[in-house]
Amino acid sequence: MKRVWMVGVVWVFALSVWAGEHRYGPYPKLYGQECASCHVVYPPELMTAAGWRQVMQQLGKHYGSDASLDAGPQAEISAFLERQASRRAKHAPTEASARLSRSNWFVHEHGQTPPPKVSFAHCEACHTGAEQMDYSERGLRLPAGYRQRGD
Ligand code: HEC
Ligand code: HEC
Repeated sequence: MKRVWMVGVVWVFALSVWAGEHRYGPYPKLYGQECASCHVVYPPELMTAAGWRQVMQQLGKHYGSDASLDAGPQAEISAFLERQASRRAKHAPTEASARLSRSNWFVHEHGQTPPPKVSFAHCEACHTGAEQMDYSERGLRLPAGYRQRGD
């Protein structure tokens, strides 16, 4: 019985990916508590383990902010992110800053240049469901002046 149930779950997951739903999570509470006070929680699936390691090793100098954590939560969140991380090269960050918004995948989907006064790190500026980890096309609202590609 348990087997059948699990196969069902895997199928629903596979179908939602296939249908381009792009929903992520839910994630451990600790991740939201520690990593969602300044921006949305980023789906760990959108960056490689090496990228997350880089982010977690530089929390004291985190994109101009201090996001450092106690050793316990730091280790727990690091382990979670690396376990859940993407294994695909296109999700590797291309700069030492380890921004997932600078991976080949991200640039291919979003272009190089965000619209005026918007940072790509603020996913919710365009993905209205980002706080619920919903990146499906239905939730997209594009700010004026955004040319997604060709720049
Ligand atoms: C004190 C505020 C703060 C906290 C807490 C914080 N961050 Fe950030 N984070 C920032 C700022 C500021 C940026 C840069 C935003 C921008 O470029 O507009 C950022 C950017 C990022 C980026 C790069 C986004 C991109 O452009 O691809 C990642 C990845 C990230 N944070 C992960 C984390 C993780 C993981 C945690 C929890 C361990 C965390 N952050 C906690 C402030 C914070
Ligand atoms: C300035 C607007 C904007 C911002 C900010 C933005 N996105 Fe997007 N995103 C888009 C658009 C437009 C698409 C649709 C691309 C397409 O399918 O042609 C998209 C597509 C996506 C997709 C689906 C790609 C696919 O395979 O169909 C994901 C996942 C995604 N974005 C994640 C993110 C994350 C995570 C962030 C924040 C780090 C972010 N986006 C920030 C505009 C934005």
